[in-house]
Amino acid sequence: MNSKIVGVGHYVPENVVTNDDLAAYIDTSDEWIRERTGIQERRWFNPDKDTVANMATRATKMALERAHMDAKEIEFIVFATITPDYFFPGSGVLLQRELGLQGIGAIDIRNACSGFIYGLSTADAFIKSGMYKTVLVIGAEIQSSALDKTTAGRNTNVIFADGAGAAILQATEEKSGVLTTHLHADGDYAEELYVRDPGSSRKVRLSPELIAGDSFKVYMNGNGVFKHAVVRFEEVIREALDKTGKSTEDIDLLIPHQANLRISQFIQRKLNLPDEKIFNNIMYLGNTTAASIPIALSEAVDQGRVKKGDLVCLAAFGSGFTWASALIEWS
Ligand code: COA
Repeated sequence: MNSKIVGVGHYVPENVVTNDDLAAYIDTSDEWIRERTGIQERRWFNPDKDTVANMATRATKMALERAHMDAKEIEFIVFATITPDYFFPGSGVLLQRELGLQGIGAIDIRNACSGFIYGLSTADAFIKSGMYKTVLVIGAEIQSSALDKTTAGRNTNVIFADGAGAAILQATEEKSGVLTTHLHADGDYAEELYVRDPGSSRKVRLSPELIAGDSFKVYMNGNGVFKHAVVRFEEVIREALDKTGKSTEDIDLLIPHQANLRISQFIQRKLNLPDEKIFNNIMYLGNTTAASIPIALSEAVDQGRVKKGDLVCLAAFGSGFTWASALIEWS
């Protein structure tokens, strides 16, 4: 048994935040942000309307519609997020409830920007083992509420954004579909991109002193992340190609996690891919962590950039550090 993606969907909040909007209260500029990250605008959630779980629900409904499927066919949920609605339980069970699927299993995956590919790989393994026939994989995040929105946080608050993407995987006897997935991590770098609190190893998880500090905000060593990302992205893409006996010329569309346009362009050059073989939407959506790949995949399908028989490569790098790739023969 193999697995294939039968439907993809996405949802992004309506609230558009431009670089100039940020420059109105942060010491930064549209020019600096565009030049260093490629981002022009991003979506930040509306606290009166958007939750991680309800954005995921909207993305799932789009995926179900495209797959001409009823939600009741979903047998298991894999939910990738590092920004769950509650400290616990995870957002997977909230999505399950919103979809009216009480009783089926749901897990959360906390692998940041690589979370969606980790989720895809998990779903693929469940299907290949015969355990489930239809698995929903989600990447959904609300990052904007964890950002330091002052000048002190300007190396992260201009990058991260909110949104949700969904993919429905189904068992197939075809040889196409998910061909291979590759997952890696190196915990030596855990503190290079992280949010320290509310950490359970503190004597007191929440205190006025802690809240007054910086440990609830996203910390990132931007230079360190950049240097590792460019190496790991290329490595893990080549690993997937080698495993399947394919070459870079065989790739029809590369969808890299939308970390930074400069990182995507660097990988594009290293792999010698023409512009039409790489998909970027960071310019208008920012970096939505686990949601970035499924949102991009859904937009690529919308735009007719993924056709039956195409070789689609997904690749990610992020907090952990974690990095991952997947090769899919679209069917
Ligand atoms: N606006 C204006 N200036 C900014 C800024 C902003 N938004 N963010 C940082 N700066 C300043 C810094 O304060 C620093 O000033 P100084 O020289 O006076 O100290 C200067 O720009 C250079 O900072 P540096 O961090 O070295 O910049 P950089 O060229 O590395 O760019 C990032 C910063 C964050 C854009 C870049 O490191 C990056 O994109 N890294 C990868 C991040 C990423 O992909 N994260 C997601 C992983 S999933």
